[in-house]
Amino acid sequence: MNGAIFFSSKYGSTAQYADWIGEATGLPVFDIKEAKANPSDYDFLLLGAPIIYYKLLNRKWVKKNWSAIANRPIIFFTVSGAPAGPKLDDWIAESLPVKMISQMKHVALRGRQIPKELTWYDRLLLLIGGLKNPDSVARKEELKGFDYMDKSSIEPILKLVQKYQSSEATL
Ligand SMILES: Cc1cc2nc3c(=O)[nH]c(=O)nc-3n(C[C@H](O)[C@H](O)[C@H](O)COP(=O)(O)O)c2cc1C
Repeated sequence: MNGAIFFSSKYGSTAQYADWIGEATGLPVFDIKEAKANPSDYDFLLLGAPIIYYKLLNRKWVKKNWSAIANRPIIFFTVSGAPAGPKLDDWIAESLPVKMISQMKHVALRGRQIPKELTWYDRLLLLIGGLKNPDSVARKEELKGFDYMDKSSIEPILKLVQKYQSSEATL
């Protein structure tokens, strides 16, 4: 089967993961902002997006394109500060309808946030959010930034892609 990666990224870490996955699998990589490809041309899809302010950055694109992308295998990789867990699951559930989420295989990756690379607006909001955050680890990350980028964390995604590439079945 023939697949492709469609990602969105605000500060580049999701783009980096999409490129690593593209290099490892040979799949084409598209930024959804540039709309150079039609997702319905592919048998399976990888959709990648960061969590920005408790929401998936690509939620509008997924909803808009759902009729073109439904009914085929979709691997959904999220990139966030928070690790996999109930908090991340809640943000995803608030971004997309259950029927869409349940049709995708989710893999959670952790990203990067470098304060000096952020816009002033984002720095300010993260500072305010950090000062109010009761979770001490999340508070430190919001205030000081973090770098959890890890190429080896794409391994579960590569395994799923191999499965789809070697299969004619829709999963
Ligand atoms: C403005 C802003 C808001 C963010 N909001 C969240 C959030 O609500 N939850 C979270 O876990 N991470 C949050 N993060 C961390 C991002 O998910 C992380 O930095 C990610 O790597 C960004 O992806 P990108 O570089 O592809 O834009 C936020 C980062 C920024 C800059």
